[in-house]
Amino acid sequence: MLERPLWAPDEIDIERPSVARMYDFFLGGSHNFAADRQLAQQALQVFPDAPYVVRANRAFLRRAVTLLCELGIDQFLDLGSGIPTVGNVHEVAHAANPEARIVYVDSDPVAAAHSQAILRDDERVRVLHADLRAPAPVLLGAAAEGHLDFSRPVGVLLVSVLPFIPDSDDPAGLVAAYREATVPGSYLAISHGTNEYQPETVGEVEGVYTKASQPGVFRSRDEILALLPGYELLPPGLVDAIRWRPDPNDDRPDPLGGDVARYSLLAAVGRRG
Ligand SMILES: C[S@@+](CC[C@H](N)C(=O)[O-])C[C@H]1O[C@@H](n2cnc3c(N)ncnc32)[C@H](O)[C@@H]1O
Repeated sequence: MLERPLWAPDEIDIERPSVARMYDFFLGGSHNFAADRQLAQQALQVFPDAPYVVRANRAFLRRAVTLLCELGIDQFLDLGSGIPTVGNVHEVAHAANPEARIVYVDSDPVAAAHSQAILRDDERVRVLHADLRAPAPVLLGAAAEGHLDFSRPVGVLLVSVLPFIPDSDDPAGLVAAYREATVPGSYLAISHGTNEYQPETVGEVEGVYTKASQPGVFRSRDEILALLPGYELLPPGLVDAIRWRPDPNDDRPDPLGGDVARYSLLAAVGRRG
């Protein structure tokens, strides 16, 4: 008989690998099933650096949220927030500003249910089980009862989620819809896997992800930049994630020796003008 722990909502098919639960597995989390682990292992066969890449992605997320707090942002819309793990956006933001408000949005039932379970008593955080490809209900849910105030600047986070939005779903149009919902002085933080360095290898990863809940695509630097009109990128622009404002206090050696090709992950933070 297959395992079905308490945190697994009845609606989910635990035999269908989920991109959220595979990511949780790469991070060393426990909210994943055998089918997720099997497909994640297939991805590791072709891309063994995945566990390092996801950690570098989380480190970028932490640095980006910390910077936005320093810039005065006190409300965040985290689209494709994932299954809670260490260093969640609300923890990073609340360390800087205990009043900060956060809305987590994820289409994965486990991500949404687990977030709701651990945050139900925290009035500063709202969890929406929703698909970011429908911006109107997401924005309505985020703004309901004045939780996020869209008349003031908001930090929109699209961290390693746009790879799961194929071109046929118009990712640039979606980024624009969220941008247009925010006022000038708002920010966007984005990271995205790239095919710039190892096109064949990441092509094989894409092949593995065709068997997951959602296909995943790596994009070129120009394709990622094309998702970001209307945002003025803060220095150093769209760069390898490990080179985006590295923490000067972090003196741990880079596990991949600083080899940006092995990460194949780009990141940026932009300000809406
Ligand atoms: C690779 S994880 C990234 C999680 C988190 N943003 C981070 O960087 O650690 C991608 C997440 O995006 C979610 N996701 C994918 N497509 C989505 C969509 N259309 N709407 C909402 N969430 C989505 C997945 O369920 C998953 O939790």
